[in-house]
Amino acid sequence: MFRLILCLAALTVALAYKNPHYAAGRTTMVHLFEWKWDDIAAECERFLGPRGFGGIQVSPVSENLVLWDFQRPWWERYQPISYRLITRSGNEQQFASMVRRCNNVGVRIYVDAVINHMTGTWRENTGTGGSTANYGQWHYPSVPYGRDDFNYPECVISGSDYFCCADRVRNCQLNGLKDLYQGSEYVRTQIVNFMNHLISLGVAGFRIDAAKHMWPGDLRVIYDRLHNLNTAHGFPSGARPYIYQEVIDLGGEAISRNEYTPLAAVTEFKYGMELSRAFNGNNLLRWFYNWGTAWGLLASGDALNFIDNHDNQRGHGAGGDVLTYKQPKQYKGAIAFMLAHPHGWPQLMSSFAFTNTEAGPPMDSNGNTISPSINSDSSCGNGWVCEHRWRQIFSMVAFRNRVGNTALTNWWDNNSNQISFCRGNQGFVAFNNDYWDLNQTLQTCLPAGSYCDVISGWKSGNSCTGKRITVGSDGRANIVLGANEYDMVLAIHTGTESRL
Ligand SMILES: *[C@@H]1O[C@H](CO)[C@@H](O)[C@H](O)[C@H]1NC(C)=O
Ligand SMILES: *[C@@H]1O[C@H](CO)[C@@H](O)[C@H](O)[C@H]1NC(C)=O
Repeated sequence: MFRLILCLAALTVALAYKNPHYAAGRTTMVHLFEWKWDDIAAECERFLGPRGFGGIQVSPVSENLVLWDFQRPWWERYQPISYRLITRSGNEQQFASMVRRCNNVGVRIYVDAVINHMTGTWRENTGTGGSTANYGQWHYPSVPYGRDDFNYPECVISGSDYFCCADRVRNCQLNGLKDLYQGSEYVRTQIVNFMNHLISLGVAGFRIDAAKHMWPGDLRVIYDRLHNLNTAHGFPSGARPYIYQEVIDLGGEAISRNEYTPLAAVTEFKYGMELSRAFNGNNLLRWFYNWGTAWGLLASGDALNFIDNHDNQRGHGAGGDVLTYKQPKQYKGAIAFMLAHPHGWPQLMSSFAFTNTEAGPPMDSNGNTISPSINSDSSCGNGWVCEHRWRQIFSMVAFRNRVGNTALTNWWDNNSNQISFCRGNQGFVAFNNDYWDLNQTLQTCLPAGSYCDVISGWKSGNSCTGKRITVGSDGRANIVLGANEYDMVLAIHTGTESRL
């Protein structure tokens, strides 16, 4: 009996960090990579809130090293110099105001927490808030950290370490970044204070950057010292932060993601890798009839799923060939599949355009980030891609919100790259990644009626700007998706946005 109670207690604790605490009816978060806090607050109010987005992952909030020597690369934000909330995205007051304004319109904020390391050793040593570092002394006076707060003796992770030596992956330096010793009570306290400060400001959770490079036992201590979410921001009392840990594990390494799932959720890199392969034409969509743990994916509740993230869209991290905004037709197909499929918690990427994989966000000559502009057709300008504003993507967020927890049923395929399936009696989606047109009468599972396809257009008054689908009393409808159409997806669902 005692053992049973202990087991139940352990289970409750693990589940505690796996709930994103979205506002009711919301399901999907977007990573607004390198956006400024004031711009995010405006985007919550004018777009993300009204469109039913559940949350936003923001770029690291802690003061980082300024690296003019590399023209202010995006990765300077992964080199903290203190835990003061001051970066190119804004200061603490702007951050707090953003969290408040986004929570007010039902959009949660998740912080990319860089707690594995501090900076590397560089020629420059000043941060975005003016803090300094003395690398030779391992001294970061604004925390403060000193020599005893870092792993010793100094070593740097090599490529072969990943396959033999879990201790080196966790105790040595990642790319020469000074590696914090999370076994130290003092270090834990600094990290916990930093994260609890963010919780007090109303954030809903954290991405744990480089989680694989920290010991699960140390992370557990840190997570369990975090405060409950702030009820003054609309969270239920007793709510634990949502935590998703960056663990790249495509198999065969000394460190398994299974060491981290007992603690909290984990980033699912296999998800985007396999879907990118298929939508790129290197696997058949028909095989995805049993997409999920049968493919080696994490359990649904453990998985933070995405097609691309800020690392692998530019060839860093895992999965060199993931789809990105640069192949829009295939990318929108893969995203639509992710949002239509019930497995896991989806995360969308929202990028700035790049050719140089090191380049930071659009900036002026002083290094200040330039805000996205919003064009009259609702797309973004000033160098920002804003995938989340692509109709085919935000319409599928609404689709996912609508179908909720309904089951995937009535899988159909043509033995190749044409597939379709239902989500309960709420939604229907079809894909054509073949060289031939799809023209079939298919079971949609929807109530008889007339629906607007939310991919080729939208409902406008009593008509559709794109395709109109007529579902008969038997639930069947003629579905046409030409091989050369602009998009390879068709989606209809119940609710006023789609049903005539
Ligand atoms: C898939 O369906 C299309 C027609 O809908 C057909 O032309 C094509 O040959 C089919 N592929 C296979 C492998 O059956
Ligand atoms: C679909 O197939 C039907 C029956 O073969 C045909 O009458 C119709 O023209 C086709 N539609 C398209 C858009 O190809």
